[in-house]
Amino acid sequence: MIEINNLKKRFGPKIVIDGVTFNIPDGDTICIIGKSGSGKSVMLKHIVGLLSPDEGCVKVDRMQINKLSKKQIFDIRKQMGFVFQSAALFDSLTVFENSILGMYEHGNRNFDELEKESIRVLSAVQLLPDINDVGETAFQKEWQILKNKKPSDLSGGMKKRVGVARALVGNPKYIFYDEPTTGLDPVTSQQIDELIANLANNLSMTSVVITHDMFSVFRIAKTVAMLHDGKLRYFGDVEGLKNSNDDVVSEFVDRFILKA
Ligand SMILES: Nc1ncnc2c1ncn2[C@@H]1O[C@H](COP(=O)(O)OP(=O)(O)O)[C@@H](O)[C@H]1O
Ligand SMILES: [Mg+2]
Repeated sequence: MIEINNLKKRFGPKIVIDGVTFNIPDGDTICIIGKSGSGKSVMLKHIVGLLSPDEGCVKVDRMQINKLSKKQIFDIRKQMGFVFQSAALFDSLTVFENSILGMYEHGNRNFDELEKESIRVLSAVQLLPDINDVGETAFQKEWQILKNKKPSDLSGGMKKRVGVARALVGNPKYIFYDEPTTGLDPVTSQQIDELIANLANNLSMTSVVITHDMFSVFRIAKTVAMLHDGKLRYFGDVEGLKNSNDDVVSEFVDRFILKA
């Protein structure tokens, strides 16, 4: 469980987060929404321990994240996968190398283990077929082609899938996405949203998705937290968000629906 308790953060004179409290229970899929500059990424950085609160605290699995030793931070980060806005792949590395880079950097040189995990996560993001559907020979052929591809050989959606695959390495308990569909065309965005929703259901992870796209919220979220002027303006389910009487909330929602 992630607990955010009276979190406050300012940068110079600018108060970005002004006393925000909410919990993310295990297994939830939460979208954190709000207009650009409303503190969504700052919130996420507090949850993963990249920023320290001025006041209040963030606890992950009951541990106060900014009070941990390096070793404790290292251990808890192993429970966390991150998907960044840009796919953040290394252009000179293959799909295989990109997918298991974290394991390699942590010193794992067992090629069989690396390959097995790469196949597991690339299958989870549907870049590889199900071996039971296509058979061993066809599967191996597809794997050999995929593993040696470079990011420049991939479409935007495929790159994003490799980025998600990398976040799944080691089976994290939590997965964090910061604007996962920004910059993708609407069709690819929908496919990535569906992937995020499927992974959340199938791998029983707790998923935290930052987005300013209402379509993504409707496709993905079980819970929505909306930040506005440093405060938590809405917290609840998607139905409640759609039916909110709060002008700020309904304006944010309607703007997207009108555009559709
Ligand atoms: N490290 C930082 N130093 C100073 N200001 C920052 C820093 N990080 C974020 N901010 C400011 O905090 C506000 C919220 O930023 P951010 O969380 O990135 O917004 P968004 O909701 O678009 O993700 C913005 O005004 C941004 O300029
Ligand atoms: Mg951001």
